[in-house]
Amino acid sequence: MAPVTSLTASVTQHLTDALTSALPEAPGVDPLLRRSDRADFQANGILALAKKAKANPRELATQVVSRIVTGDVIKDVEVSGPGFLNITLTDRAITENLAARAADPDARLGVPHAEHPGTTVIDYAQPNVAKEMHVGHLRSAVIGDSVVQLLEFTGENVVRRHHIGDWGTQFGMLIQYLEEHPHELDHKSGEDLQESGQAAMSNLDRLYKAARRKFDADDEFKTRARRRVVDLQAGDPTTLAMWQKFVDESKIYFFSVFEKLDMEIRDPDIVGESGYNDMLAETCRLLEESGVAVRSEGALCVFFDDIKGPDGNPVPLIVQKSDGGYGYAATDLSAIRDRVFNLKANSLIYVVDARQSLHFKMVFETARKAGWLNDDVKAYQLAFGTVLGKDGKPFKTREGETVRLVDLLDEAIDRATAVVREKDTQRQLSEEEIAERGAQVGIGAVKYADLSTSANRDYKFDLDQMVSLNGDTSVYLQYAYARIQSILRKAGEVRPAAHPELELHEAERALGLHLDAFAETLAEAAAEYAPHKLAAYLYQLASLYTSFYDKCPVLKAETPAQVENRLFLCDITARTLHQGMALLGIRTPERL
Ligand code: ARG
Repeated sequence: MAPVTSLTASVTQHLTDALTSALPEAPGVDPLLRRSDRADFQANGILALAKKAKANPRELATQVVSRIVTGDVIKDVEVSGPGFLNITLTDRAITENLAARAADPDARLGVPHAEHPGTTVIDYAQPNVAKEMHVGHLRSAVIGDSVVQLLEFTGENVVRRHHIGDWGTQFGMLIQYLEEHPHELDHKSGEDLQESGQAAMSNLDRLYKAARRKFDADDEFKTRARRRVVDLQAGDPTTLAMWQKFVDESKIYFFSVFEKLDMEIRDPDIVGESGYNDMLAETCRLLEESGVAVRSEGALCVFFDDIKGPDGNPVPLIVQKSDGGYGYAATDLSAIRDRVFNLKANSLIYVVDARQSLHFKMVFETARKAGWLNDDVKAYQLAFGTVLGKDGKPFKTREGETVRLVDLLDEAIDRATAVVREKDTQRQLSEEEIAERGAQVGIGAVKYADLSTSANRDYKFDLDQMVSLNGDTSVYLQYAYARIQSILRKAGEVRPAAHPELELHEAERALGLHLDAFAETLAEAAAEYAPHKLAAYLYQLASLYTSFYDKCPVLKAETPAQVENRLFLCDITARTLHQGMALLGIRTPERL
C-alpha cells in the first residue's frame, strides 16, 4: 500500500502552494507548521519570508489565506499576531486519515519506507569476555537495540556488530591459570539458559580472581603468563583452543543476560576485537605509508592539532606500541576498514559510553585522514551518559562495587511482579501469568527509564520511580494498552469502524492529530538516532488517550456509529502504542 500522507504534510503542501502563488519569486518555501493550542496548527514561516521579500508580514499572510482552498482538509485558516496562520482541520480529514493508516495491510500504520535506504553498521552490546556485565553494558544494549529497530523499520539495511572485548594481554594469565587448573571451568550444564549462564559466569569470575591473585603474587607464574600472551598472538593452536573456551563460556553467560533483557542477539553478529587480528598489521602499514601515522619513540602514533594534554603537549593515538603490540585503537581502525570496504556501510554508529569520546574522536579523525571515512561514509559515536544511584553518584553497591547487571534486572523484575500482583485485585491471573507479566513490566521499566532520557545525559536508576503506575514510565504505557484491549474485548460483537461523517470531541481531535504524527516522529527519531523522541511521543499518546477516555464514553457513546468510531480510535491508539513500544524493545501484554 502507498504510505499515508500525514495531515501535517498535506497542510504544509496546501500552504506552500498558496505561498508560492502569493509570492512567485520564492517557490517551495517551508511554512513551518507546528501543532498549536490555539488551533490545530500554527504556521510561522511567513514572517521570515516577508522579511526577505521586504513585504508586510500581515499583508502577505492575508494574501496567502485568500489563496488557501478550504473544505476537504482545512476547515478554517486565519491570520494572527504579526503574521502567523492559525489552521483548523475538518473532523472528516482527521478520521479519514486515521482510517487510511488503520487500513495499511503491511501493519505499518501507513509509515513510509525511506526513499534512499543506506547501510548502517551499528556497534552496540559489547561486553567483555570473562567479565561480569555491569550497568554500562545495559545502556549500550538497550539504546543500540532500539536504534536497530528504528532504522530497520524505516527500511535501512542494518548490520549489527557486537564488538566484544575478547582479546588482550589478560588472556595470557587466564589461559595459563586454566592450563594449571584444568577443571576450573567445568560445570554441569544447567536446567535452562539462565542457570547455565550464571554457572558459567561464576566459574569465570572465580577463575579470573584466582588468576589475578596468582599473577600479582607469583613472579614465575607471571613469566609463564607472559609467555602465553606471545603464544596466543603467534596463533599457537593449544593456546588458541583454550582462549576459545573462555569465549564460548562467556557467550553462554552473555546470551543468558540478553535473554533476561528480552533482546535478540545473534551469534554471527558477535565480531569481537579478535575478529580483526588479521587486519592489524595492514592497517598500521597503510597509516604509516600514507604518513597519517608516524613513529615516535618506537610507537606508531597519530597526532592531532587540537588534542593536547594538560601539559600542553599533543596527546597521540597509539596505533602500535613500541613492543609491537596492537591495542584498542588498531582494532577499531581495522573494524572501520572492514565496515566500510567489506560491509559497504554508509554510516557507522557506535553506542559507547561518553567516557570513550576522546578515543572515538581520534579514531574517526585518523580514519578521515586515511580516506576511509569521508562525506559519504560517516561515523558517529552515540555516546551515552552514566547511570547514577539515587544519591546522584555513579551507581555502586553498598560495598562500593560496580553493580552486576543481572542483580539489577532481577530486582526490577521482583518489584514489577509485586506491582502486577497487587493490581490484580480480582485474582484473574495465574502464578505463571503473574511471573510472565512481572518480567515484561520489570524489563520494560528498565529499558524505558533508559530510553526516555536523551542518551547523552546521565540518569538516576530509581526502581521505585521506574515501576510507578503514574508518570512517564513504561508501566503507565503498558496499562494504557491493556486497558484498551479490555475495552475491545468488552465490545464483543461490536467492531471498531471509522465514521468520517461524525463530529469529533476536542479530546478526540487531539488524540487523532497526535496519532497522525506517528510517521513523522519515527522518521525524526530514526534520523537523529534518538529513541527518546519516540518515548516522549508514546507517553503523550497515552496521556491524550487517558483524557479522551475520561471525557468520551466509548461503549456508552450516544449512537452506534459513535461507539464504533470511538472503538476505532481506541484500536488505532493501541496499535500505535504496540508498534512504538516494540521499537523500544518493550512488550505490551494484552492483559495486566
Ligand atoms: N568492550 C568495550 C567496553 O566494555 C566497548 C566496545 C565498544 N566498541 C568499540 N568498537 N570500541 O567498554
